[in-house]
Amino acid sequence: MTDAIRPLIAGNWKMNGLKAQAAEFDAMLDRAAEVTGKADLLVCPPATLIAAFADKARGKKVAVGAQDCHPKASGAHTGDIAAEMLVDAGASAVIVGHSERRADHCEDDALVRQKTEAAWRAGATAIVCIGETQAQRDAGQTLEILGGQLAGSLPESSTAANLVVAYEPVWAIGTGLTPTTRDVEQIHGFIREFLTSRFKADGASMRILYGGSVKPSNAAELMAVKNVNGALVGGASLKAADFLAIAKGCP
Ligand code: 13P
Repeated sequence: MTDAIRPLIAGNWKMNGLKAQAAEFDAMLDRAAEVTGKADLLVCPPATLIAAFADKARGKKVAVGAQDCHPKASGAHTGDIAAEMLVDAGASAVIVGHSERRADHCEDDALVRQKTEAAWRAGATAIVCIGETQAQRDAGQTLEILGGQLAGSLPESSTAANLVVAYEPVWAIGTGLTPTTRDVEQIHGFIREFLTSRFKADGASMRILYGGSVKPSNAAELMAVKNVNGALVGGASLKAADFLAIAKGCP
């Protein structure tokens, strides 16, 4: 069943990218055809570049997404951006609940759930991130933490079309460390069980991405693990060659 899920390779540029760096995105657009047999591609640049990237990507094989949204559609929220504005600029997906936002902006599961619903209200897919810290892992709490994040962050009306789950162990982000494939298989299996029991119709076909130090050199091994349906890539998504090489690693 899950074998039929088409992989998604999503790039999270985080707070990186000026207009002058758009050449890397241009190269991704030019070469996307090399990997469309393998995976769908999504690039989530900083909000300042979404409209320009979406304009370039029109009719091409790379979708453009955002890294966060406010739960409300409009209002007095200085500096925030509504999901409707992101979609208006050309985004088709929104990352919500990234561990950097959970840590830097004290975002909790209830807020992540509201942001997920905001993405849907605007017509975008939500990529909901979950992951344990090093301390939680050392304390043997990984599955308990992930189960709590899933239960608290995923709205009832999640479907395979509107939701992607991204498992990103916090200790693996930007560190060059990755879990063993055995650990990834166990954890993605746990997430799959959660999804199939909570969302009877669609749980088996929802995408579960792995994120945290994915690179061309480890992508094939990680993407071959059962219930890994693609990757959420940080640093390596800033270079077209690396991003496309990761997509080529999909089975
Ligand atoms: P890195 O690929 O740089 O480890 O970042 C992963 C991540 O946080 C993607 O959202």
